[in-house]
Amino acid sequence: MTNWLEVDTYAKEWIKEAGERIKKSFSKKLLIETKSNKNDLVTEIDKATEEFFIQNINKQYPSHRILGEEGISSSIEDLKGIVWIIDPIDGTMNFVHMQRDFAISIGIYEDGVGKIGLIYDVVADELYHVVQGKGAYMNDMPLAPLKETAVEEAIIGLNSTWVTENKRIDPKILAPLARDARGTRSFGSACLELAYIASGRMDAYITLRLSPWDYAAGKIMVEELGGKVTSLRNENLDLLTQNSFFAGKPGVHKEIMEKYLHNGEW
Ligand code: IPD
Ligand code: CA
Ligand code: CA
Ligand code: CA
Repeated sequence: MTNWLEVDTYAKEWIKEAGERIKKSFSKKLLIETKSNKNDLVTEIDKATEEFFIQNINKQYPSHRILGEEGISSSIEDLKGIVWIIDPIDGTMNFVHMQRDFAISIGIYEDGVGKIGLIYDVVADELYHVVQGKGAYMNDMPLAPLKETAVEEAIIGLNSTWVTENKRIDPKILAPLARDARGTRSFGSACLELAYIASGRMDAYITLRLSPWDYAAGKIMVEELGGKVTSLRNENLDLLTQNSFFAGKPGVHKEIMEKYLHNGEW
């Protein structure tokens, strides 16, 4: 039997320590590399942070497996057993250019079911935290169940990429939503946008391309509070591949899915 309380305690301790290490890096010159294209950045701090978690997890829980963005641990092909899904720095571009608005994201799953989620906004020192079935918290303050919101009163996380010409969606589909919503925002850190839905600061988040480590923690958090998380085709998400991604408070998810996304038949 897994002692989830203990796993949770360690995860919290490690994420805080990793945050301290990241803050110390602000005074040093970063080694910045690119990955798939010139805007896809990675630094030695992303890699060192992932390595920090891998070493701690391997030592404490040798049977647990790890899926991390920087791919330092071996890759996984299924979600059997306990899997830690880690984004060591979500919002690397913000980290490099702005030294703020980035976070560490950890989702811990057992046989594909989300158990614990942690999102740590390092600079704001805000730790969002969920234990499935036991509520979600921001710095130990309980987060309220999500309220229904209508599109006309909603703030929606939406990157301008998806309302201009792009290869994944006709811009005409999401443009009316951007027009009808109270406002749109793009924070540059998917996990923070999900933490903002959980804490009621935002109402929905839509993107056409997200990886499991971007949303593994936030999905558990939003669902724990009664929100809905699907693809833009209204399907369940596959934690082993990239997906289109749509998270929202219950009412706003339904309204957008029906009115703008035609129940996924777009
Ligand atoms: C990125 C951020 C960004 C999202 C990208 C992600 P990274 O993660 O979450 O907000 O739009 O799709 O790849 O690379 O900074 O960890
Ligand atoms: Ca990245
Ligand atoms: Ca990410
Ligand atoms: Ca990252």
